[in-house]
Amino acid sequence: MKSLMIQGAKIIATGSAIPSSSFSNHDMSKLVSTSDEWIFSRTGIRERRLLKGVDKSIVDLGVVASKKALDKISMHPSKIDLIILATSTPHDLFGSASKLQSEIGAYNAVAFDLTAACSGFVLSLVTASQFLQTGAYSNILVVGADVLSKWVDWSDRSTCILFGDAAGAAILQSCSLINNAILNFQLKTDGNYSKYLSIAYKQNTSAHPQLNIYQGSFKKIYMNGKEVYKFAVFQIPLSILKCLNSINMSVQEIDWLVLHQANERILIAIAQKLSISTNKVISNLRKYGNTSAASIPLALDEAVQDNKISSNDIVVISGFGAGLTWGTIVVRW
Ligand code: UT7
Repeated sequence: MKSLMIQGAKIIATGSAIPSSSFSNHDMSKLVSTSDEWIFSRTGIRERRLLKGVDKSIVDLGVVASKKALDKISMHPSKIDLIILATSTPHDLFGSASKLQSEIGAYNAVAFDLTAACSGFVLSLVTASQFLQTGAYSNILVVGADVLSKWVDWSDRSTCILFGDAAGAAILQSCSLINNAILNFQLKTDGNYSKYLSIAYKQNTSAHPQLNIYQGSFKKIYMNGKEVYKFAVFQIPLSILKCLNSINMSVQEIDWLVLHQANERILIAIAQKLSISTNKVISNLRKYGNTSAASIPLALDEAVQDNKISSNDIVVISGFGAGLTWGTIVVRW
């Protein structure tokens, strides 16, 4: 993918937020027929965080994650030009980014939601980098936030064990071309497989009597786990290789692999296919499960806080999920 660049872009801060309430595999086994042993051995998950309380939403988590990122670099929210909120679980079908904008006081920022499920953060990073590299904006806040607990079928043990709630944020800034740190990206979608992972629209059985319009609501999460698993393990190594090859970079140059935290076995299989040591794979699934659009920024933020990822490291970030959509972005930290 080639894009016209008149200036560079870099990530200058990250932040994250998790709900206070944790829900262990043991707790899960009281809800559905499962066990800690099954969940941990098949997914690597031990517990997840759930957002509880009346009217609590992604906005609450997104605000905390954003403020943490801003505080790290002592940036006033008025400096933000654009907010992209990656989410599939907005608190308002028209979008939640504007609520986030007002709650953090980023009054100069235009704000919109981006819906691409678990790939949402990668697509948002790429979108943000385009606005920066073309010179349109100087500071962009990208937030990945999801509360899939509101959309999980809590009687379906094949999906409810996987998901957790969280938010993560990154602030990107323009810089000189020579310091550009968003080195390359590759994005793909194959809508033929959208049926494998969805929260489908459910129309009412009868139409409005005068208008013949069918209104409705949304169903709960449906996933064909096996197909999504195979797709991720097949496509993500290809996406990473393609992204690296076109900038003459080798797999050996990767310092950290930050993949969408869907399943520990997926992370390991992808690393093995690429002959990357699992020591270079960032994983926090054990504590949070799959937090959808939040999983990558949450993992990034923790890895930075733990002094794993440091300045000049090559970080390869890949997301995948409903759509089916997937993508990779190569970043010099
Ligand atoms: O964020 C979007 C991306 N999502 C993903 O990447 C998810 C990818 N898929 C997966 O991670 C895995 O497919 C799962 C973790 C969802 C399922 O693992 P699996 O190894 O593919 O299990 P399975 O669906 O083949 O089920 C194996 C067995 C079945 O029993 P039988 O038919 O062999 O008797 C299931 O009924 O395990 C049973 N099972 C469970 N047993 C205990 C399914 N869920 C559970 C459960 N506890 N929670």
